[in-house]
Order: sequence, then C-alpha cells, then structure tokens
Amino acid sequence: MEDPFFSPAEEVGAKSLYLFLKDDRLSLMTPTIREEKLNPLSLDFIGPFKYHQKQNYSFKKEPLAKALGQNSHLVWDITCGTGSDATLMLFFGLQVVAFERNKIMWALLRDALDRAMQDPEIGHHFRDRFTLIKGDPRVNSPAERPSAVYYDPMYPEGKRKALPKKEMRVIREVVGDDLDFNETILWAKGIPTSRFIVKRSLKAPPLNERPGHIYEGKSTRYDVYFS
Ligand SMILES: C[S@@+](CC[C@H](N)C(=O)[O-])C[C@H]1O[C@@H](n2cnc3c(N)ncnc32)[C@H](O)[C@@H]1O
Repeated sequence: MEDPFFSPAEEVGAKSLYLFLKDDRLSLMTPTIREEKLNPLSLDFIGPFKYHQKQNYSFKKEPLAKALGQNSHLVWDITCGTGSDATLMLFFGLQVVAFERNKIMWALLRDALDRAMQDPEIGHHFRDRFTLIKGDPRVNSPAERPSAVYYDPMYPEGKRKALPKKEMRVIREVVGDDLDFNETILWAKGIPTSRFIVKRSLKAPPLNERPGHIYEGKSTRYDVYFS
C-alpha cells in the first residue's frame, strides 16, 4: 500500500518543499526526505529539554557553558536552526532570544515552541525565558543588549568523507549556505558588552581572526571573541 506521507509530493511536485500537519505537528517534506524515505522533519523542544534534565552536566566542564561564561544572563542565538543549541542554553539557565531568518525553519520552530510552552512540566522555562524572533538580528534586534551572542551558520560544505547527519542535510536543503558570515561576524563583534561565540567543528579553521579563547568538545569547539 502506498505510504500516505509520500504520495502528496506527486500532487505538489516532487521537487517541492512543503509543510503539512501530522498529528497536529507542523512537518516538512523535501525531495531528500522523499527520496531517502526519511521521516518528515518536525522540531521538538520538549524531548531535548527533558533529556538535558536527566544528565549530570557539570557546568564547569561543559564546553558551551564555559564559552558562555558564568556572568552571561541573556544570550542571542542568532542562528536558531533546529533550536537544539538554544534549548541547551535555556537549560543552562539563560534567557534566550533566538533568531531565525528562514521562513520554513522559523515556522517549524514556532510550532515546536508553541507545544513546549504548553508542556505542564517544563513549559514555564520556555514561556519565561525563550523568545523566538523571525528574521535577521541585524535588521530586527531588541533594545536590550545581550551578554553573549552565539553564532552557528551553515558553512559551505568542504570535502567530506562521511555524509553529515540526516537532519543537517535536510536543513541545508532548506536554507542553503549562509554566505554572509563575514558581514554577520563584523556586525556581532561591534555589539558592546558581549562575548561573541562561534561554533566550529573541531578541526575547521577559525571563521575569523584568532579567537580570544577556544573551548573544545568531542567534535565541536567554541571560538570566543571578547569585546
Ligand atoms: C547551522 S544552522 C544552526 C543550527 C543550530 N545551532 C541548531 O542548534 O540547530 C544555521 C541556521 O541559522 C540561520 N541563519 C543564518 N544566518 C542567520 C542570520 N544572520 N539571522 C538569522 N538566521 C540566520 C539559517 O537560516 C539556519 O537555519
């Protein structure tokens, strides 16, 4: 029998991206999802937040917590994407203002955030400390200045031996490369009173000049620029 989640593509066009509701969740279908018979992409904050609650993180050892520093209270995640890093920063106790300029990713994030806000156990964290803004912070930024700016753009793909995670391949299909990273870095480094954190894979060169400090994880590192 034909899978009902793959047949609508015939109607919309196999090359189309489209959003649909599945079990009251906004879900995305793309050509890659269709061709590789992956699950439609929807985003979720509740599962990851509850997962973090069960971990015994030591804030003195977690590279992202160290990169954010003990005195950070308000972080702008200017590349929200799937919201995974933003959720971790929220779990660390920060107030998070997250920006996403891609309309499709933003719609998926908004849907996940609406569900998270209604969760009886953890909804208050999202209601009280998480703000999602549609757009680019260079155009549309709140007046309150952050203590940290977090940046994780989609870099042009280098030569890879292994394929990136399925979710990241789908996101690349939706957003493409963030080719304006030089301009964004220049802007972010000009924000007063902030530390600027750039997420990189462990072996990649710094995106900008030498960072003030580097915090390394298993496969990722955080380059921190102090202003
Ligand atoms: C690599 S993904 C971010 C992954 C994210 N850290 C996570 O935890 O899923 C980059 C995302 O940032 C968005 N983006 C890139 N530059 C942006 C900007 N200047 N303003 C707003 N969104 C941006 C892209 O549309 C894309 O969804």
